[in-house]
Amino acid sequence: MFIGLDLGTSGLKGIVIDETQKLLAETTAPLNVNRPQDGWSEQCPQDWLDAANTVMQSLAKQLDLSHVLAIGLSGQMHGATLLDREDQVLRPCILWNDTRSAQEANEFDSNPIFRRLTGNIVFPGFTAPKLAWIRKYEPRIFDRLAKVLLPKDYLRLWLSGEHVSDMSDAAGTSWLDMQKRDWSDDLLAENGLDRSHMPRLVEGSEVSGVLRDVLANRWGLRKSVIIAGGGGDNAASAIGVGVVNPGEAFVSLGTSGVLFAASDAYQPDAASAVHTFCHSIPDTWHQMGVILAAADAMSWFGNVVGAQPKDLTTALGALQAPSNTLFLPYLGGERTPHNDAKIRASFLNLDHRSDKVTMARAVVEGVTFAVCDSFDALTETGNKIEQLLAVGGGAKSNYWVQAIATTLGLPVSIPVSGDFGGAFGAARLGMISLGGSLTDIATAPKIERVIDPILPLQDSFLSALKSYRKAYKAIKAIS
Ligand code: XUL
Repeated sequence: MFIGLDLGTSGLKGIVIDETQKLLAETTAPLNVNRPQDGWSEQCPQDWLDAANTVMQSLAKQLDLSHVLAIGLSGQMHGATLLDREDQVLRPCILWNDTRSAQEANEFDSNPIFRRLTGNIVFPGFTAPKLAWIRKYEPRIFDRLAKVLLPKDYLRLWLSGEHVSDMSDAAGTSWLDMQKRDWSDDLLAENGLDRSHMPRLVEGSEVSGVLRDVLANRWGLRKSVIIAGGGGDNAASAIGVGVVNPGEAFVSLGTSGVLFAASDAYQPDAASAVHTFCHSIPDTWHQMGVILAAADAMSWFGNVVGAQPKDLTTALGALQAPSNTLFLPYLGGERTPHNDAKIRASFLNLDHRSDKVTMARAVVEGVTFAVCDSFDALTETGNKIEQLLAVGGGAKSNYWVQAIATTLGLPVSIPVSGDFGGAFGAARLGMISLGGSLTDIATAPKIERVIDPILPLQDSFLSALKSYRKAYKAIKAIS
């Protein structure tokens, strides 16, 4: 048996699979995000450990875990978990969708060494500018800093006692030399840091340590269960849906939205705001466009109108041409293609008849258009995407997937029901870390149905996409 743990933004999910990759048990513990100021987004690292304990205890109730051989980890990327010499947490973790360090990010980004070595824009959500912000505004914390860990790596520290990260997650720090797959001393020095502040690096499919005895006893696991390197949530999800070769791609409609394509060469194009990161398997990279609020935009709207996101999307019925109402999903700024931390979300063209349904439809369309922006950015850098898989909570909405298929003019496949997210990919990385073959294990899921574009509606979606793009420019000018 193999366990996958995915430390997401809205919850920590755990699954158990057997040697044939059959799902035996799954459970999720919810997590909250604190937003003390506009653009800020934080979580308390202790909450992750409590959630992991709850998840493991629940899995142990469902199954005898003494047959587990390895645990794989996946997690939200970029978060800065700051530890002192005793591994005590110094402050709440600043998360991937926190844009407070926009100025520090711009300063780093205008220093050519960052794009040259990392292949990426230094986005405000990345880890290095967060540390520059801490150094400037919380110098006493910076002075006590001994280690910086990404969220899932803090979980690993608790599980194994080891400071380790994997290449795919380390790729989102702005401290990794992306081609060499190693920390860059020069980049770390720009932050006043050095290698001693960093965890050791492994590939996602390698062994990173073993489970501590005290936890093994608590949850009924045998001694020395392996903990695999694992991956950032997008790279781990890619392993879950078998996206490892050039030409293979998926769109994920989770809290964030991601359009992800694998590649066997390192071909960065930072100016496009496309992310070029290491994959969670050796000698492989990937590119992705990242939308900060995808399903998160629908959760926000659901909170505002007091409805469940699922009920809102179900009420949309069959796909129809977009109305005049536009929604720009930039609740906390945007990464691809704008790299704009200051822009905020808008509804446009509301009228007396606008209701919950019209507005929910505009939210779906707005996120769809944001996916199209990422699609154009990715294909302009040379990726060929001929067919897409859709995963994540938003992909459960037929309407949403059909809107994406129609605007892109591409068939979008939906896997058979089951879990192909980060937790599943992490469990697969656990299997590979014990010697399993990547090609045998990281296979594509069975497809339940392919959603084709509705061609008669395509022109209206494309014309709404044009207005959406104009609206960004107009809103930017007044915001
Ligand atoms: C990727 C990114 C998000 C987070 C949260 O760059 O910021 O996808 O990993 O899921």
